[in-house]
Amino acid sequence: MEKFELEPALKDEIRARVMGDGFVKIVQSVRRNGRSFRISLRPVVIGGARKIQAEMTDDGHVQVKNLDAHGVTTGLEEILDQKGARDLHLITARGDLHVRVTKKGHVLVSRSAETEREVVAMPHDRIKRTPLTSFDATALLRATGLADGDGKIRASMRGKYDQVNEFLKAVGELMGDAKAEDGRTFTVVDCGCGKAYLTVALYHYLVQVRKMPSVRVVGIDRRADVVESARKIASQLDIDGQVTFVEADLSDVGLADVTDGERVDMVISLHACDTATDEALAKGVEWKARYVLAAPCCQHELQKALSGGCGAGDFAGLMRQPILRERLCDILTDSFRAMIMRVLGFRTRVVEFVDGEATARNIMLKCEYGVKPGQAAPVGEYLALRDYWKVTPWLETRLSTLLEKHLSRYS
Ligand SMILES: C[S@@+](CC[C@H](N)C(=O)[O-])C[C@H]1O[C@@H](n2cnc3c(N)ncnc32)[C@H](O)[C@@H]1O
Repeated sequence: MEKFELEPALKDEIRARVMGDGFVKIVQSVRRNGRSFRISLRPVVIGGARKIQAEMTDDGHVQVKNLDAHGVTTGLEEILDQKGARDLHLITARGDLHVRVTKKGHVLVSRSAETEREVVAMPHDRIKRTPLTSFDATALLRATGLADGDGKIRASMRGKYDQVNEFLKAVGELMGDAKAEDGRTFTVVDCGCGKAYLTVALYHYLVQVRKMPSVRVVGIDRRADVVESARKIASQLDIDGQVTFVEADLSDVGLADVTDGERVDMVISLHACDTATDEALAKGVEWKARYVLAAPCCQHELQKALSGGCGAGDFAGLMRQPILRERLCDILTDSFRAMIMRVLGFRTRVVEFVDGEATARNIMLKCEYGVKPGQAAPVGEYLALRDYWKVTPWLETRLSTLLEKHLSRYS
């Protein structure tokens, strides 16, 4: 017997436990060259019938398959014939079996004491699905460079992959079960799209997961090199008719540059720098988009205004510390943004859209148009905070034409 190989008797025991009554789950994890691969088999109930579901996670890229009898046998043999260091955990009603194959090829086996565990096959929809694992996203992930040639998420792109995936989740949550109106193209504008990771992913999500029949996504960025690369990606994915790009500063882009007269349904922006986030929010308002989702990035405007000391008052001790001043200004800037969107008729929530490990910039404004603009409560709250700090937020100046009539009634 070679090193790393399981003994025939151990393989037979595992086969018998997986194929017999009381099988709960088998999971094998392999770590090699800094990458992790995990495969699990477990019974599930689909349409009242018991099946075995295989879940393969390859460096974070998850694939789920429901197997027939032949598939189970093949899948299990692959697990048993795996080479290299690995951990295998088999759970059955009678107890657990652990097998650890060390880096030197030694096979260590341990068995738990006999138990009487109740076995319940889970409905298959209990599997955690994410937008990017709900369809075959391999081509998309490869073309954007989020994944390598084998379709594995690159370690260096893990944070961006998570941001995009969670952004899509937030889009899904905000839209609920809303559908595109019959015969209309659902139009999205991505402000500060960069290399278009989110732009093309959102297109696929709307078409493949939400089954929207006609979708158009327009990315805007002022950098020629990223727009060129974004166009190449869309062309490679054969969606360059539906996903297009405008190379321009956001402030110079008008409605006619992004649609042929159709309404814009959604405006998004992911980490558009500084006031570009405000510009994205302003576009959403002016273009009468129903949905606006913006994850802000660096924010300097308010810092400049507050570093002069105006409005700092009792906060002078806090403002003295650059890191605390920066965080306070970030919070105030996003508060003003959220409040202005509320004043202008958007139901607005500020959420953490992604884990802090994926990015420290994990705040998102999720806005949906749908209430009467200029109501007393949001206007009052906005004016109170603004006047306390004695500042004029950039977004107020940018949207002054629309805001003035609402603010002047209560000031
Ligand atoms: C940090 S990158 C984020 C790119 C992309 N959304 C993402 O998450 O991968 C910000 C992008 O916004 C673009 N940008 C910033 N300000 C802009 C403006 N005023 N007009 C157009 N693009 C802008 C930059 O060129 C850059 O590509």
